[in-house]
Amino acid sequence: TLPRVYVTRQIPPEGLRILRESGQVQFELWDSDDVPVPRQELLQKVKGVDALLCVLTEKIDAELLDAAGPNLKVVSTMSVGFDHLSLEELKKREIRVGYTPEVLTDAVAELTVALLLTTSRRLIEATHEAKTGGWGTWRTLWLCGYELANSTVGILGLGRIGVAIAERLAPFKVKKFIYTDVAPRPELASLINAEYVSLDELAKQSDFLAVCCALTPETKEICNKDLFSKMKNTSVFINTSRGGVVNQEDLYEALSTGQIAAAGLDVTVPEPLPPSHPLFTLKNCVILPHIASASYTTRNAMSALAANNLLLGLRGEPLIKELKL
Ligand code: GLV
Ligand code: GLV
Repeated sequence: TLPRVYVTRQIPPEGLRILRESGQVQFELWDSDDVPVPRQELLQKVKGVDALLCVLTEKIDAELLDAAGPNLKVVSTMSVGFDHLSLEELKKREIRVGYTPEVLTDAVAELTVALLLTTSRRLIEATHEAKTGGWGTWRTLWLCGYELANSTVGILGLGRIGVAIAERLAPFKVKKFIYTDVAPRPELASLINAEYVSLDELAKQSDFLAVCCALTPETKEICNKDLFSKMKNTSVFINTSRGGVVNQEDLYEALSTGQIAAAGLDVTVPEPLPPSHPLFTLKNCVILPHIASASYTTRNAMSALAANNLLLGLRGEPLIKELKL
């Protein structure tokens, strides 16, 4: 009989088509995209499966891997982020892990630029004023924001996505790109002429600070009071990585006291962020519901890559994109 696969979400059609047409697996699906599979249901459904295709709302931890049992050979996540996966537990069980970098780089970079401009030029406030009667007359300092021309843009965590963001911002006449990471990344940095600096210098010099790192124990809440206190009060903070890299209480404090000018967030803790959350009360905070990779093209490409990674893993072949554990 064919290897059994559980798919934790009704993923975009491309990936499901690949699984179906492979003739290589039998799969069962949580047949909704609107609600995640309940944990108890997931723990039941994974029993005895050979492979799992998941998305970022599912915690793949010891409990889940134990529930799945020894047949499980491959976990393929339809995401570039991997903070929902217990890598240590996967490694211990010699389970191979697929993920979906690169196919989403363009979409994430485009959204990051859109969020940056929306935040720095106060577009959400502006449309709100226009349609609710706040537009009294043309005013000289009304709804003024900050421009990219002649600015210094800082990138926290320089990977493909950071490079792609910088490539798109450069034509806006950015003066200088700086970045920090655990170590210099000269090959990537040379693509965008970025200078390696300490986290301290990144905070001090950046007019725009874009967070593009993975969430790991090392980067958890790396954006905190200490960092915000070093930033300019004219600076704009943008996060399209993971909410966990930010201490949100410290961010609230920095935004509400004018320590920094504004923030644009595509990611938060928790997700969804409750509508009653204090960050939603701030005019200088733009919050999006985790949509950076949400283009039709990219989500289908992620779906296809996740399916192909899974099939390759079941055949014992190298995955197209494999997380090295
Ligand atoms: C989205 O956040 C992803 O990790 O792909
Ligand atoms: C992260 O995965 C990146 O591509 O920068």
